[in-house]
Amino acid sequence: HDQDIKYLRDNLTVYPNFPKPGINFRDTFSLFRNQITYKKVIDLFSDHISKLEVDVIVGLESRGFILGGAICYNLGIPFVPIRKKGKLPGKVIEYKYELEYGQDVFEIQECSIKPNQKVVIVDDLIATGGSCMAAIELLKKVKAQIIECVILVELSDLNWKKNVSVPTTSFIKFDS
Ligand code: PRP
Ligand code: MG
Repeated sequence: HDQDIKYLRDNLTVYPNFPKPGINFRDTFSLFRNQITYKKVIDLFSDHISKLEVDVIVGLESRGFILGGAICYNLGIPFVPIRKKGKLPGKVIEYKYELEYGQDVFEIQECSIKPNQKVVIVDDLIATGGSCMAAIELLKKVKAQIIECVILVELSDLNWKKNVSVPTTSFIKFDS
């Protein structure tokens, strides 16, 4: 896997000063839009998650959906979304969180997880950890058993380790 990870790291495009001055935007779509790098990404996640005991994969809107759907198809397990506010019907639970640049609200459908189901959270990137923390809080409220957060890119020098209280695996590491 080390060679694949190096290949992915080398092929991830960074956009300086987007969406704000001072932010180096590491655009994971640059890996998703190429069939070789996308397959390597999905294989890395699938291999890792197949070794865990998992009932459900929870993907975070929107980039986490591109990962979660393919991994679920690969492993034959269900996909559950956590979405930005106002997109999910029925009874939902919401949680407000801080981003590296701004603020947002995440929601989960109460009926989407059964108590004690073992879940893994997947997303493309972790910066402040605000998104993952919000997902963890929502999953606690629906009484899921959170096994791990599995993330493609970690920005190692940001504060996410203080915010995220569950075991986290990331494949590609950068400083912001
Ligand atoms: C980005 C990224 C992660 C999150 C990481 O998503 O895809 O989900 O920010 O930042 P954090 O660790 O500081 O929370 P964004 O909310 O920009 O939306 P997108 O996935 O729809 O692009
Ligand atoms: Mg995102």
